[in-house]
Amino acid sequence: MKMSDRVSSIKYAIRDLLPIAEEVASKGHEIIKLNIGDPIRFDYEIPAIMQKALIEAVSKGFCGRSEGELELIKAIQAKEKMFNGFDIAKENILVGSGVSELISFTLAALSDPGDRVLLPDPCYPAYQGVANFLGLTIDYYSCDEANDWQPNVDSIKENLHDNTKALVLINPNNPTGAVYSPRVLKEIGDAIAPYNIPIISDEIYDLLTIEKGLFHSTPNVIKDIPIIRYNGFSKVYLAPGWRVGYATLHDPNGEMKEPWEGAAKMTRVRLSSCTPIQHACAAGATNIDHLPSLLEKIEKRRNVVVNGVNDIEELSIVSPKAAFYSFPRIDLSNLNFKDDQEFVIGLLKEEHVLLVHGSGFGPKEGKDHFRLVYLANEEILSDAMEKIKRFIIKNRV
Ligand SMILES: Cc1ncc(COP(=O)(O)O)c(C=O)c1O
Repeated sequence: MKMSDRVSSIKYAIRDLLPIAEEVASKGHEIIKLNIGDPIRFDYEIPAIMQKALIEAVSKGFCGRSEGELELIKAIQAKEKMFNGFDIAKENILVGSGVSELISFTLAALSDPGDRVLLPDPCYPAYQGVANFLGLTIDYYSCDEANDWQPNVDSIKENLHDNTKALVLINPNNPTGAVYSPRVLKEIGDAIAPYNIPIISDEIYDLLTIEKGLFHSTPNVIKDIPIIRYNGFSKVYLAPGWRVGYATLHDPNGEMKEPWEGAAKMTRVRLSSCTPIQHACAAGATNIDHLPSLLEKIEKRRNVVVNGVNDIEELSIVSPKAAFYSFPRIDLSNLNFKDDQEFVIGLLKEEHVLLVHGSGFGPKEGKDHFRLVYLANEEILSDAMEKIKRFIIKNRV
């Protein structure tokens, strides 16, 4: 029997290297894993208020409201009002089993096979995976490393087509750690205005901005274009394994009723997200007491990586402004590797440090980069940077 074409076209770089890592580990080597943005694997804890609420909610084993438990919807309304100033009607919020599920539901509701979607390069790879699954043609717009990894608006204009069904922004960004300026957001709004399509704005790292005051939620800047925003509990609330995310609709001219109803219909097809976990998230949604110390910790760890990268001749980096991802460039011209993937595999085999190759995030701008997640403590990160340096020195031509 054979795998369907629809599924065989899907690649997921972040987890693709795991079989090689397992092989290295099976030889008794301890691997420094800096490949996945999962805080709970390091010294971070889900806020106590949410943990306690989960214990209390454990008896709520019923299948909940498909679009999201009302208690959670109310908490999301309060949270969005508090942090972003939005008044969002309950009908304009959908809860999913992670943003991941909502990427599928909303893209499925917006497009048919053969349509196009415009993604950033580099991009969080779930978008490519879902687009492939749905039979969409992917176009990429460049994000400019030389301009703090901001989206290149000309590249957006060049890659919009009559059958483009959505433009995706990831802000703050995975994998670059960039935060988009209001000026660039405004220009993006102007660029897509003639196309009558929504912006999908993935803001799952919104409160994880290390450099304060930089972040602007897209609907606060672009006022006249429909926007679907994603956010959730995997990052800011440190609970990636709880699998709760949400989408909000900002539809100033009422153009999105049909596709939004389509996405809501998809939530009904899968019955509901995990009910007790939704109640636990509701308890913690407006409480961000854990954030100041979290951001302080992340900032110190970022600095270890940025300083480590700057200490290696062949590497360079735009210092990340948010989240916990760094995306250094490798100058391969004097190294014994044909590309970034070979570099990352070599590093894993020789020094047992697991990163993700940049080309797994985007065909053009991701090339000659790697993503290093800086969630681990300073000691582990310093050790990793030393190993990367040793590996590079050893592999100079
Ligand atoms: C930009 C972005 N969006 C969405 C997700 C997935 O979120 P969730 O855990 O809510 O499915 C991630 C996870 O790394 C991400 O980086």
